[in-house]
Amino acid sequence: MDFELKSLSPTQAAQLACDALLVLVPDARPAVEGTDALSQLVARVNKAGDLEAGVAKLLACYRPEGFKAARVCLVRAGDGAAASVRKAVAAGVGALRQPGVQRLGLVLSLMDTSDASVRAAVQAAADATYTFTTTKPSAKARSLRHVVLGVSQPASVRQGFETGKALVSGVEFAKEWANRPANHATPSMLADAARKLGRHAGIKTEVLGPKQVEALGMGSFLAVAKGSAEPLRFIVMQYSGGAKSSAPVVLVGKGITFDTGGISIKPAAEMDEMKFDMGGAASVLGTFAALAELQPAINVVGLIPSCENMPDGMAVKPGDVVTSMSGQTIEILNTDAEGRLILCDALTYAARFKPRSVVDIATLTGACVIALGGVRSGLFSPRDDLAQALQAAGDAAQDLCWRMPLDEEYAEGLKSNFADMGNVAGRAGGAITAAKFLQKFANDLPWAHLDIAGTAWKGGAAKGSTGRPVPLLLQYLIDQAALDAATSKPKKATTGRTRKA
Ligand code: BES
Ligand code: MN
Ligand code: ZN
Repeated sequence: MDFELKSLSPTQAAQLACDALLVLVPDARPAVEGTDALSQLVARVNKAGDLEAGVAKLLACYRPEGFKAARVCLVRAGDGAAASVRKAVAAGVGALRQPGVQRLGLVLSLMDTSDASVRAAVQAAADATYTFTTTKPSAKARSLRHVVLGVSQPASVRQGFETGKALVSGVEFAKEWANRPANHATPSMLADAARKLGRHAGIKTEVLGPKQVEALGMGSFLAVAKGSAEPLRFIVMQYSGGAKSSAPVVLVGKGITFDTGGISIKPAAEMDEMKFDMGGAASVLGTFAALAELQPAINVVGLIPSCENMPDGMAVKPGDVVTSMSGQTIEILNTDAEGRLILCDALTYAARFKPRSVVDIATLTGACVIALGGVRSGLFSPRDDLAQALQAAGDAAQDLCWRMPLDEEYAEGLKSNFADMGNVAGRAGGAITAAKFLQKFANDLPWAHLDIAGTAWKGGAAKGSTGRPVPLLLQYLIDQAALDAATSKPKKATTGRTRKA
């Protein structure tokens, strides 16, 4: 699916050759009505009150006079803000989702546009037509091929358009890998996908296996992988878009390709959904796919510890004590709290990059699903500046998160008589105690943790990956690149390889 940004007056929009024309109609009426077919159609509809004010109300017309497209659909876009545009485009493109619609004109020319609203339109059009076909060839693949995005001032929204396109690549990359069943997305297959991304300009990928991970002393990560016939992989990716001296952002993604719970086995109901337990890893891969396209001026490291969590004669047992890479010992009281066990060693590894910030992303706790549901990801950080930057990025990208507390009292329950800490602390505040566990490995790093257990995928009839939080992560990186550009002296300004964010 590709996108084209075009200057389209209402007259030109009506004359656009396409299978369908989707016109966003703001609530605010123009001071003077145009005399072209589109403006006249909208004026008549407004006068008749046939398209209620608000967001996402639709009116479909067939072969209206003066239009080249057979299908013309008007959709209310309320105040025209990014959030409204997103809902309007989702509804409109959803309604036009049919085999005959391959070329779509998406008209934003009747309203004021911004980078954010154009980006939202691109994202929503892709979202509304996404289909997973890898293991279901009979699924109706996306028929929409080409979207012409018509605006009155293309130059003023070019950046939002480019960001939107990169985001679509990143989100769809994440969705593809998260949606794959565990037998089509093993740790080795994830590593191969990361290696492929390493062919893009600015990206390098390195993959470590069990021997190297053992040599690093990652006893905690190794313990989780022990019960599986699939060998673990530790994926290290580097995107170098900034100056050599510019400290990188490190993204750490939980890559459990299937979580049975291990010996502390999970109940059978809905266990299939634990194929999504590599959603954090998928979001890191997706973010790198977006970086490959956007080439912003920043350095980013992606770390993905990946393995299966299986019960087996060789599997780690409740009560076993392991030594993490940090030297701290851990009593594994519950083998189902495995995410923190693989992440803790990756966090220790992250320190070697002397990062400006470390953000781990994980489908970590059912408790976070209970706390925040599927609307906001859980955000944990002892650093106010980092927490604010991530929260702001989420707001700007419409990929929301909510800051949770990290009071020391929450760590009480992690105490153990047999090791430096246990890996669980009872049911109360489960999302927070998991974060407290991770914090013991982040030490002085400027660290944040995103618990995406509720936001990475949807259950029910619409079961599938959401691609979150790729939009939040990419926005955060773009913001950091902009901050660098603003604070470095003009001569030394870090520039992107081809384009700047
Ligand atoms: N992958 C799960 C978390 C999860 C559960 C995500 C449900 C999405 C939906 C994680 O590995 C896990 O099993 N966590 C346990 C921790 C507990 C044993 C302390 C949980 O949340 O039940
Ligand atoms: Mn688990
Ligand atoms: Zn898990």
